[in-house]
Amino acid sequence: MSKVKFYSGENVPLEMHKVRIIQKLDLVPIDRRLQAIKEAGNNTFLLKNRDIFLDMLTDSGVNAMSDQQLAAMMVADDSYAGSESFTRLENKIEEIFGMKYFLPVHQGRAAENIISKVYVTPGSYVPMNYHFTTTKAHIVLNGGTVEEYITEEGLKFNSDNPFKGNMDTAALQGLIDRVGASKIAYVRVETGTNLIGGQPHSLANLREVSGICKKNGLKLVFDASLLADNLHFIKTREDACKNKSIREITREISDLCDIIYFSARKLGCARGGGICSRTQDDYMKMRELVTLYEGFLTYGGMSVREIEAMTVGLDETMDENMINQGPQFIEFVVNELHKAGVPVITPAGGLGAHINAGAFVSHLPQTEYPAGALAAALYLVGGIRGMERGSISEQRDADGNETYANMELLRLAAPRRVFTLSQMKFVVDRIIWLYQNRELIGGLKFVEEPKMLRFFFGKLEGTTGWHEKLVAKFKADFGDSL
Ligand SMILES: Cc1ncc(COP(=O)(O)O)c(C=O)c1O
Repeated sequence: MSKVKFYSGENVPLEMHKVRIIQKLDLVPIDRRLQAIKEAGNNTFLLKNRDIFLDMLTDSGVNAMSDQQLAAMMVADDSYAGSESFTRLENKIEEIFGMKYFLPVHQGRAAENIISKVYVTPGSYVPMNYHFTTTKAHIVLNGGTVEEYITEEGLKFNSDNPFKGNMDTAALQGLIDRVGASKIAYVRVETGTNLIGGQPHSLANLREVSGICKKNGLKLVFDASLLADNLHFIKTREDACKNKSIREITREISDLCDIIYFSARKLGCARGGGICSRTQDDYMKMRELVTLYEGFLTYGGMSVREIEAMTVGLDETMDENMINQGPQFIEFVVNELHKAGVPVITPAGGLGAHINAGAFVSHLPQTEYPAGALAAALYLVGGIRGMERGSISEQRDADGNETYANMELLRLAAPRRVFTLSQMKFVVDRIIWLYQNRELIGGLKFVEEPKMLRFFFGKLEGTTGWHEKLVAKFKADFGDSL
C-alpha cells in the first residue's frame, strides 16, 4: 500500500484488499440521536448499535476478518479436550514468537487476571510504560501498585517523536534502586500504548528495558494486544529495522520477553486471547488458573472457530500489507484534522485518531469531563461513536477523590479494514464543524457512578442545556441533512 505512488502526488492510503461482504448502515435523524445519547447517560458505551452510523468505539473484536480466516473457521475441530484447532494455534504461536508454552484465555483481561493473581503480591510494584484500564484494575485488586514510566515525550500532545510509547529506562532503574528488585512483581511493556494515543515503542527501547530486567533478575511481561500497529511503526520509523521483515522484528521482540499476553480481539482480528511463556515454570504457575477461570487448556473459554480464526489472523499479522491499512487510515484522519487546526495527538499512532479534548473544549474544566462531553457531542452531530479516554476512564483513589487523567482524549478507533475513505472524510467533516461550534459544548456530571471501571456503565447528564443548543445550530447549518 505505502509503496504505491499516485501520479497526482496525493498521499492516499490505498487498500490492498477488496470487500466482499457488507453490512448496511443507517444514520438516524439528529432528534433521535439526541434522545439516544440522553438515554445512554451521555456514555457512548451505553448506546445501541441501531442508533449508530460509524462505530469507532473500539477495534476490539470488530476488525474485519479475511476470507482465509472465515474459511478456517469451517474446519474447526470441536472437542472439550485435545482439539486439533488448539494444536494448530499452539504451533503457530511457537513459530511466530518462539515461545514453547501457550495458555488460551477468552480475552485480554482474562490474561491480566491470571498474570496478576500469580505474580502480583500485596505491596509489590509493577513498573510499565503506561497502564491500560483493565490492567491497572487487576494489579490494584491484587494489592500491587502501578508505576508509570512513559518518557516525557509520551505525554506531550504534539511532538515529532516517532516512539512516544517508549519507557523511561532511567526511571525504571531508579525504582529498582529505591525499592529493590524483590519488591517488583514484573516489568510490563505495552506495545502500541493504548491510553496515550496508540503510540509505539521502538525495538531499541524494548532492548534496553529487557537488559535492565535481565541484570536485575526481573521478568519482562509484554502486552502484545496492539502489536500489529507497533510492528508497522517499527518497520517504517526505526532506521535499524527498515530492512527487516515483520516476522524478524516480531521474533526480535519476543526474544526479549519472558511472558507475552494479548487480546486476540485486537491482535489477529479474532475474539479471544492468550498467554505465551518461555519457561515451564511460568506455564505451570498459571495453568491451574486457566482451568479455573477460563476453561480447559485446549480452549480457554474460546470457541474453536475463533481459535482457527486466530491462528490464521496471527499469521496474516506477519504480512505488512495486511496490517498497514489501519495506521495509514488513522494517519489520513489525523493529518486532515491537524491541517484544519483541530487539536489531535501527533504523530498519528495506531488504534485510532485521538482528539485532544482538553484543548478542543478548553472552556470546560476537568471536573466537567471534557473528553466525555466531546464524545457525546460528536455522536450527536454525526452518529459517530467514539470512546472517552480521559478522567471518566480513571477511577477514584482510596479516599474517594477524583484522579484526573494526564490526557483528556476522545479516541476514534479505526477497526481494521472496516471503513472506507469516504466514511473517514465524513468523520473529519463533522469534527471540523464541531470544532468551529465548540463553544456550544457544555460539561457533564455523574448521575450514576459505579465504583469500578465506571466508564463502562456510569451515567452522566449535561451541566447545562447544551445538547439542545448544539442540535439547533446543526439544523440551522445542515438543514434537513442527516
Ligand atoms: C493494551 C491492551 N491490553 C489489554 C486489553 C484488554 O483486552 P480485552 O478487551 O480483550 O479484555 C486491551 C483492550 O483494549 C488493550 O488495549
